[in-house]
Amino acid sequence: MNDEEPILRVRNLTKTYMQGKIPVHALNDVSFDVDKGEFLSIVGPSGSGKSTLLSMVGLLDKPTSGCAMIDGTKITEAKDSEAPVIRREKIGFVFQHFNLIPTLTALENVDIAMRFARVPKGKRKERAVELLAQMGLRERMNHKPSELSGGEQQRVAIARAMANYPAIILADEPTGEVDTKTRDMIVSLLKELAEKGQTILIVTHDTAVSAQTKRVITMRDGKIASDTKV
Ligand SMILES: Nc1ncnc2c1ncn2[C@@H]1O[C@H](COP(=O)(O)OP(=O)(O)OP(=O)(O)O)[C@@H](O)[C@H]1O
Ligand SMILES: [Mg+2]
Repeated sequence: MNDEEPILRVRNLTKTYMQGKIPVHALNDVSFDVDKGEFLSIVGPSGSGKSTLLSMVGLLDKPTSGCAMIDGTKITEAKDSEAPVIRREKIGFVFQHFNLIPTLTALENVDIAMRFARVPKGKRKERAVELLAQMGLRERMNHKPSELSGGEQQRVAIARAMANYPAIILADEPTGEVDTKTRDMIVSLLKELAEKGQTILIVTHDTAVSAQTKRVITMRDGKIASDTKV
C-alpha cells in the first residue's frame, strides 16, 4: 500500500484545439494518478493525445479545462512567470531529439541545468560528475554532443533531467532515434532509476519499451482507453 500523496494527479484534463472553426479534442476529460517511484508508459496511436498530455503535465501548454498537480503544486493554475520555476524544480524532461546544447560538453550540459536553479558551483560540478558516472559516461564528460553517439547523448540528457532532483521525469519518445541495443540500454537505465525511487513517465510507440514499464496507459481519441498495472 502507498499512503503518500500521488506525485502526479491529473483531473478531467481537456485540451481542445481549434482548426479553423472545427474543434479538435486532443485531450478529452483525462484523469489519473501517479505514485512516487512509478515507472509507467503512455502508448496509443498517432494523434491520440500523448504529446498533448505530456505538454500539459510539463507546463509547456495550458489545458482548456481540468487540472494537474505535481508534488502538491497545482501546475495548471501556475502563472506564466511561475511555469519555468516549476519546470526547473519539479520536472526533468527527456526528448526524442536529446536537445543538448551543441557548443557545451556533456559536463557543461548537465551543469547548466543546475546553474539555472542557482545551485552553487562546487555542488554542481560534484553532482554533474556523479550523474554522468552513473550513466556510464565517466570517460565522455568533456565531449561535445557531436562527439557522442545517440545513446550517449540520450544518457547525458537523462543525467541533465535528473540534476535538480525532479519529482517526475517526463520522456516523449526517448528511444525514438536510437538503435534497438541502445534503446534497451536506455530503458534499463530508466528502470534502474525508477527502482531507486525516481518517478518516470514515458510516451512511446515501441511495445518493447512499454513492456518494460510497470504500468501502461493506452490512449485513444484523447481519452484513456486502458490503464494496466503489472
Ligand atoms: N497545436 C495544435 N493545433 C491543432 N491541433 C493540434 C495541435 N497539436 C496537436 N493537435 C491535434 O491533437 C491531436 C493529438 O495530438 P498529439 O500530438 O497529442 O498526438 P500524439 O498521440 O502525441 O501523436 P504521435 O504519436 O503522432 O506523436 C491530433 O489530432 C493533433 O492533430
Ligand atoms: Mg506525440
